[in-house]
Amino acid sequence: MKEFHVAIDGPAGSGKSTISSQIAQKLGWIHVDTGAMYRAVTLYALENQVNLNNEDSYQFLDNVKIDYQDDKILLNGKDVSREIRSEEVTNNVSLVSSFPYVREKMVFIQQKAAKGKNIIMDGRDIGTVVLPNAKLKIFLTANVEERAKRRYNEQLIKGVTVDFEELVNDIAIRDKKDSTRKESPLKKAVDACVIDTTYLTIEQVVDKIINLIEKKE
Ligand code: C5P
Repeated sequence: MKEFHVAIDGPAGSGKSTISSQIAQKLGWIHVDTGAMYRAVTLYALENQVNLNNEDSYQFLDNVKIDYQDDKILLNGKDVSREIRSEEVTNNVSLVSSFPYVREKMVFIQQKAAKGKNIIMDGRDIGTVVLPNAKLKIFLTANVEERAKRRYNEQLIKGVTVDFEELVNDIAIRDKKDSTRKESPLKKAVDACVIDTTYLTIEQVVDKIINLIEKKE
């Protein structure tokens, strides 16, 4: 097969990355988590104390290398997969990703990564902007309480207890910022297939999407 692009979009905590990663493993395809890339930009900006509110600050992207390989995010060659999940990064990533300059740089890397490949790419604007000609587009949703519950359990496994109501609130705020911003807001592509994962297991969603891929092959 020459090139098969699958675009998976959806709000925070809808299971995009876990599901995309499992599908890619099963099919032997490449997976790119674009949220991790925006998080890496945010991490770099925070570590280097740039003014997050000024679009000109992000010129540093001309000299910073961001790669996504085998479910790891590399910032100038260093694996920062754990650091990008910090609360500080999570609280600032929607602001950083709202700047056209940042998006232009990331979209360029993402489109280059997809060229000529079988790839599953997940994010917010994959079906609408990054891969508008993707053979399959999926929009994953789940109600906000369920998404918060998943994040809560993830943290619990890591030994961290967080306030559930605060988590619901944080996710709702990030959804609002991501879907109301001017540049490439989170929205379902007109030709995307919606899967509500609220009452489905990860395995059920993975199987559903693999079935859809097989139908299109
Ligand atoms: O997917 P994740 O929740 O890790 O994404 C972190 C943030 O990165 C999102 O809340 C959003 O602000 C931004 N993002 C984006 N476009 C993408 C992927 C993520 O703006 N394609």
